[in-house]
Amino acid sequence: MYAKLSRVARMLTPSPIQELSQLAQRIGAINLAEGFPDFPAPPDFKAAAVSAINSDFNQYRHVQGICELVEAKMKRDHGLQINPLTDVVISCGQTEAFAASIFAVIDHGDEVLLFDPAYETYGPCISLAGGIPVYVPLDPPYWTFDVEKLKKSFTSRTKAVVLNSPHNPTGKVFTKGELEAIAEACRSRDCICITDEVYEYITFDIHNHVSISSLHGMQERTIITSSLSKTFSVTGWRIGWSCAPSNIASAIRNIHIKITDSAPAPFQEAALTALRSSPEYFKSLRTVSSCFDALAIYAGNYFQLSCRTIKLQIHIFYLGMRWKSYEARRDNAVETLSGLGFRIQFRPQGSFFLFAELPQSWLHSDVDFVRELIKKGGVAAVPGCGFFHNSSNNETKYYNRFVRFAFCKSDETLAAAAQRIRELEIIGDKGLLKKL
Ligand SMILES: Cc1ncc(COP(=O)(O)O)c(C=O)c1O
Repeated sequence: MYAKLSRVARMLTPSPIQELSQLAQRIGAINLAEGFPDFPAPPDFKAAAVSAINSDFNQYRHVQGICELVEAKMKRDHGLQINPLTDVVISCGQTEAFAASIFAVIDHGDEVLLFDPAYETYGPCISLAGGIPVYVPLDPPYWTFDVEKLKKSFTSRTKAVVLNSPHNPTGKVFTKGELEAIAEACRSRDCICITDEVYEYITFDIHNHVSISSLHGMQERTIITSSLSKTFSVTGWRIGWSCAPSNIASAIRNIHIKITDSAPAPFQEAALTALRSSPEYFKSLRTVSSCFDALAIYAGNYFQLSCRTIKLQIHIFYLGMRWKSYEARRDNAVETLSGLGFRIQFRPQGSFFLFAELPQSWLHSDVDFVRELIKKGGVAAVPGCGFFHNSSNNETKYYNRFVRFAFCKSDETLAAAAQRIRELEIIGDKGLLKKL
């Protein structure tokens, strides 16, 4: 029956990462592989979703008001003027927003530039649309790119550039200078830029997210995609958006309606609450520096909603769960993995991933390391090779020397994983993992 499968189905084969994730599940390993939080979502968002279900919002629905909130957010965060009626499309997560955007602009044979390593879904999605992914390397250890290489990667067939910042898997936040270089290349080649900004509020230290759309001459050629998933710890709710010039947004909307019709109705309702969160909520994703800050955030959100019957205790419970900011979790992850000999020259500037270079004493591949880590340590991570695409290229010898750890987990999960990792050592010239 294989012969009956389409060209597209044959193209999408399971990766070694899927096999490892099955192994991790069988063993019951602590999951630092996947990029979703294992702590509760903020209680007021959950209450809004429950209330929507109780109000019988069970049918296809395009909820009024979300596009206006996205408009307000674009103005507040990036100084962009957009029309909520024509320029915003609500979709099932960033994943659908990205797919619909690609299908809206990519024809058979069009080339699309991506930075390598890259989040796994972009390449296959471009190929499904008949496009050709062309990868521009981000060079370790700081994941910078060579502007000349970027310029040379453009051909007469290049239609778009994909930009993901803050970046999965490296945690890089593209600098203003880098964004200017990409923007200049897009303008001079008359190309579209498709962004993935799902980690827009998760940045650390002095780093801030700047949307390339806010640079001179870019708004008219940029499709911004993002979602509630990471900002509000609700990856399963599947609410995202694309924001684009009206003619492109209209094409994206038509495709979205043909593929899924509408995002889940109760969660669209809850999106209204989430997107109205206080500025302190967004700040809390970066750092919660004191007990006072944390109380102010949750008191702020609570009193905004005090007319609803949400119990203060739930907020206090949530406060406890979210006590540590992502920045503190990043610092702990760096410390724990450094202890096992990982070389961490680049501390993540954003997102919630640590892309750590394997210890020199580890003589095997990233896939072997993760397999051992699952079996001997009971902790799952993702081998970096799954994110690299230029692996046959001599310049990317490092492609099997990185492992991605997700630190978007509760303090208990991270502490248990750290404890297990601390009990391991890399032994002898065989270089295998052993429990101390
Ligand atoms: C860079 C990036 N984009 C998009 C997604 C998926 O976003 P959504 O849940 O909104 O589809 C992920 C999830 O891990 C991601 O890391």
